[in-house]
Amino acid sequence: MAASMDTRPFRSALYIPGSKERALEKARGLATDAIIFDLEDAVAVDEKANARETLASALASMDFGPRAKLVRLNGFDTDWAERDLEVISLAKPEAVLLPKVNSAADIEALAAKLDARADTADTRIWAMMETPEGILNAAAIAKAPRMAGFVMGTNDLAKELGCRFRADRLPMQYALQTCLMAARAAGIIAIDGVYNAFKDDEGLRGECEQGRDLGFDGKTLIHPAQLAIANEVFAPDAAAIDLARRQIAAFDEATAKGLGVAVVDGKIVENLHIETARQTLARAEAIENLQKAMS
Ligand code: COA
Ligand code: MG
Repeated sequence: MAASMDTRPFRSALYIPGSKERALEKARGLATDAIIFDLEDAVAVDEKANARETLASALASMDFGPRAKLVRLNGFDTDWAERDLEVISLAKPEAVLLPKVNSAADIEALAAKLDARADTADTRIWAMMETPEGILNAAAIAKAPRMAGFVMGTNDLAKELGCRFRADRLPMQYALQTCLMAARAAGIIAIDGVYNAFKDDEGLRGECEQGRDLGFDGKTLIHPAQLAIANEVFAPDAAAIDLARRQIAAFDEATAKGLGVAVVDGKIVENLHIETARQTLARAEAIENLQKAMS
């Protein structure tokens, strides 16, 4: 599963409120792997129509370069969602991000709407995982039509659970790991939730490291000041790249001698470790290419 996954980097996915023209303009110069243009929670009720228009014209007139573009719609239990879909038709982002997904049926309903439009044939669907029911249905949601990624909605989920915010995110672990498991079983991307205290670099780094260690592809962010840390933590570092190269070299040497295993730094290296090593190098290369395309 994981081996066939797209190597497109998703270390950082920055939310931008669709109503904030200044921030939309600014995004074109930011080192973010993906942009989540938001029409939902970051936009006040009175601003919904304005945000839709501002975003539609920004997406039509501005070039966001190689950054992946996602648009977060309002839910279909609101009066706004159908009109939000018009933005998708006009602007053709790679994906729509559906909030508060509870079941595969929610995805199937959106997929049917996209199927019915001529201009959204290639639009993928990403799901916000942020309700208890959604977490319990994660496996089926991940395999629903057009699905390409999960975004953890940890603020909404904490609200629903009635849990407390803790640095170790103990109350979130079940949801994080369940969604990661479901995403990997389906071969889709999984991005961790936001870190609210956008001036606390140390806290952000700790949470990025935890998300990375769990297996997430990257982190959703709310402020440009959070980009550098997420991009660093979710990229293979120099030591990881060096180790991957040495593992591959040692394994090739062992294979040439007719052996099935090698030893590097006192640890066994088998074929499966070589697959991981090759993925690490592929990810490093994809990140380098993306950075070149942005500069
Ligand atoms: N994307 C792009 N640019 C952003 C940005 C974002 N999410 N957040 C701030 N900026 C820009 C500002 O426009 C400002 O640019 P300028 O100085 O060139 O005018 C610069 O970064 C510094 O912003 P700052 O003054 O530090 O922040 P703020 O007080 O204006 O806004 C927030 C703080 C949290 C309100 C704002 O970052 C935000 O709206 N974030 C997104 C929230 C969101 O989308 N939530 C939904 C998902 S949880
Ligand atoms: Mg939410």
